[in-house]
Amino acid sequence: MSGSNVAGGAQKVVGMILAAVIGFPLLIFLVAKLFTSGSGVDLGLSTMTGEAISARLQPIGAVKVVEGGPPGSRSGKAVYEAVCMSCHATGMAGSPKFGDAGAWAARIAKGFETLSKHAIEGFNAMPARGGASDLTDDEVKRAVAYMGNAGGAKFEEPKVVGAAAGGAVDPATKGKEIYDSVCMACHATGISNAPKFGDKAAWAPRLKDGVDAAVAIGIKGLNAMPPKGGYQGSDDEFKAAALYMINAAK
Ligand code: HEC
Ligand code: HEC
Repeated sequence: MSGSNVAGGAQKVVGMILAAVIGFPLLIFLVAKLFTSGSGVDLGLSTMTGEAISARLQPIGAVKVVEGGPPGSRSGKAVYEAVCMSCHATGMAGSPKFGDAGAWAARIAKGFETLSKHAIEGFNAMPARGGASDLTDDEVKRAVAYMGNAGGAKFEEPKVVGAAAGGAVDPATKGKEIYDSVCMACHATGISNAPKFGDKAAWAPRLKDGVDAAVAIGIKGLNAMPPKGGYQGSDDEFKAAALYMINAAK
């Protein structure tokens, strides 16, 4: 191998590193520009806060987060970016704009429960659940807390049960908590033949081999019921949620 070949190879490597260092941020910049200027909305960049601008830019990286979470587990930020942002980022149709403390003050004064109720059921031009009917109540509430807090409130997002939630909890409380945030998405209405919450006739045949057998089937999954209903926590916690449903159908 001659010396000049080695030098040539080294030059190539340096060239590639340079291209990566300069080219990658440039690409990100161009993609970001494409997304923001292609929306056809006057951004009023001169008057937007840094927060509002970054909120406009976030969906590029946020899509994965929303799709990744099992039903019921999505955070306020993820729900906001996937659903609410399309109106609230710009204050479209008179919606209180994200991060605008002036626009939010009167809303926040209504209290978290009222705002959550309006977000869940709809309020004038605000569609129920922002138009995303698959969101659980807790997911909508998390988005309300996330948006309210960006406007100056000190709301607490309803907890995402599972990964982060450790510690000893009363099984009945825990079961309801998990049901509300995960299982409800299908079992409240009986979607895809899921036995409906509180429906004795729907649950009776499921329980003919005993509660433990039904719980074991739920852990493994069955047809449209994903393993543990998509819940990420322990088998015991899943069982607590299943018992909460089963007890309601006795
Ligand atoms: C299609 C547009 C649109 C989407 C999407 C949308 N909103 Fe709204 N939202 C509005 C409008 C318009 C208002 C103002 C309604 C009014 O005060 O008459 C509003 C008001 C609100 C309020 C204040 C209610 C009150 O009592 O003052 C909350 C809270 C809220 N939205 C939460 C959300 C959440 C959470 C999401 C996402 C899950 C969302 N919105 C998605 C248009 C939207
Ligand atoms: C994505 C929708 C979905 C979610 C979320 C979901 N389930 Fe289900 N579940 C179903 C469906 C559909 C069935 C009926 C499956 C069948 O019989 O084909 C079912 C059946 C069950 C059964 C009865 C199993 C049997 O023996 O027949 C139990 C127990 C159960 N689910 C518990 C839960 C629990 C607990 C949660 C929350 C941690 C949950 N499910 C979340 C859709 C869901």
